Amino acid sequence: MQQKIIILDFGSQTTQLIARRLRELDTFCEILPYNKFPNDDPSVIGVILAGSPLSVYDEKAFKVDLSQFRGKMPVLGICYGAQFISHTLGGRVEPAGSREYGRANLTAIDTQDPLFKGFDKGSQVWMSHGDTITALPDGFHAIAGTDHVTNAAFAADNEPIWGVQFHPEVFHSVQGTLLLQNFVETICGGRRDWSAANYIDTTVAELKQQIGTDRVILGLSGGVDSSVAAVLLNRAIGKQLTCIFVDHGMLRKNEFADVMRDYECLGLNVIGVDASDKFMSDLAGVTDPEQKRKIIGRDFVEVFNAEAKKITDAKWLAQGTIYPDRIESLNITGKVIKSHHNVGGLPEEMHLQLCEPLKWLFKDEVRRVGRQLGMPEHLITRHPFPGPGLAVRILGDITREKVAVLQEADDIYIRGLRDYKVKLSGEEARRVLAAGVPAEMKDGEIEVSLYDQVWQAGTILLSEVRSVGVMGDERTYENPVALRAVTSTDAMTADWAHLPYDFLAKVSNDIINKVKGVNRVCYDISSKPPSTIEWE
Ligand code: XMP
Repeated sequence: MQQKIIILDFGSQTTQLIARRLRELDTFCEILPYNKFPNDDPSVIGVILAGSPLSVYDEKAFKVDLSQFRGKMPVLGICYGAQFISHTLGGRVEPAGSREYGRANLTAIDTQDPLFKGFDKGSQVWMSHGDTITALPDGFHAIAGTDHVTNAAFAADNEPIWGVQFHPEVFHSVQGTLLLQNFVETICGGRRDWSAANYIDTTVAELKQQIGTDRVILGLSGGVDSSVAAVLLNRAIGKQLTCIFVDHGMLRKNEFADVMRDYECLGLNVIGVDASDKFMSDLAGVTDPEQKRKIIGRDFVEVFNAEAKKITDAKWLAQGTIYPDRIESLNITGKVIKSHHNVGGLPEEMHLQLCEPLKWLFKDEVRRVGRQLGMPEHLITRHPFPGPGLAVRILGDITREKVAVLQEADDIYIRGLRDYKVKLSGEEARRVLAAGVPAEMKDGEIEVSLYDQVWQAGTILLSEVRSVGVMGDERTYENPVALRAVTSTDAMTADWAHLPYDFLAKVSNDIINKVKGVNRVCYDISSKPPSTIEWE
């Protein structure tokens, strides 16, 4: 039986990070709302109570009945989780004199406690709380403290309960993963049996069982998730799977042909549909960003559905939905928000059942599974690309000529990012490795391309702006392009990437010299929020 750790969600933004860290430790875990602990699941080997934006004294504070798991399995409280345990069992939690926020060092650590096995004295952790535990419940003792926080971590004397007021799941807690590893392995006795190879074996077996001899349709986008889902399904059911890849005419340079070739090499049964004429004519003269998106969404559904309906005996619609798309995350009101995206109307109309073979995976795990399935690296580490494609990167109306100009400039930029190598260390190196980029740490450094260092990059054509330039003896009056590159872990927030000046200088020079119609290059230095990653 696959062991699992349950993470109870009390609404903190870092809850997902706990799950990601555990998965990096080859441990399966599930995030559930604080009031949905599965009482009768024998595969649960431990429980983590995560953080919350609320204080334990808040009227609306989320409360959990500890007796559901207390005494039955090890419990770890993190931040609010630790304060909740302490408060509920008779300790004292009070507003911190000054908010305890940011980096701190564990100046006192009990390294005899299994939770802190292997920790260094002074280990850096990340604090972020307005309340603090000023007195522990009877039968509990402190196992770590900082200069300002006496009870930074605690343990029960005679039962398996621990709490930490810092956040081991964030990168700034340098030995945070070790702490979680100690909890999983030493305290819960976890086998660390979650791996890409295992996932493939069990999922392929499940898919064979679930689908039998039925036919399945899957929409490919060229992106990582749908591609990995297709290859996994292909391994399970082979030619019973039909993939549909729609070209709306606004993909990157040569992308449709390149990706079709990749898919065919992978043995996928793919129908490529060139629908660019329809999209271009429906978009003619449209400048409003929302309207562009609506037209593209509608056309996409029409084209996809028309193709799918030809497969009259299909019983399933497969999608590359991944775990973060499905997590029922709580907002501050305690309401569960769940979003789920289907291809418009198709399942209802054709009575298709949904099949989501990646529904338990985080993005970095999807990449690991893809690699294990033998997919080419350029497909696996491909940046996210918006469904409406270059349409949302051309400000103004869309024409084939503008798309061609943008494709050329973008191609120079992206190839440049792939060619330029950088050495990274510390937090930055760990972030890139955690995203699933294959690189080896040597002497505390990794070497990766700028492409792999950033989350996403793209070029934007400011087609409604013209500026004056001079080329040779000629005056030019042409469009600028903006280059965008961001670092991020989930696209919810993003920072502009600090690309090297010599790289920017070379790319700018190459674009202006080689792309007719562009005489100026800008670099976008906005973060999200308040900006967004895409310009439209
Ligand atoms: P924003 O611009 O909202 O983008 O900061 C966040 C992430 O979502 C991608 N994106 C889209 N992806 N269809 C998609 O499939 C869309 O309409 C769309 N709009 C934005 C964007 O590229 C970034 O990764």
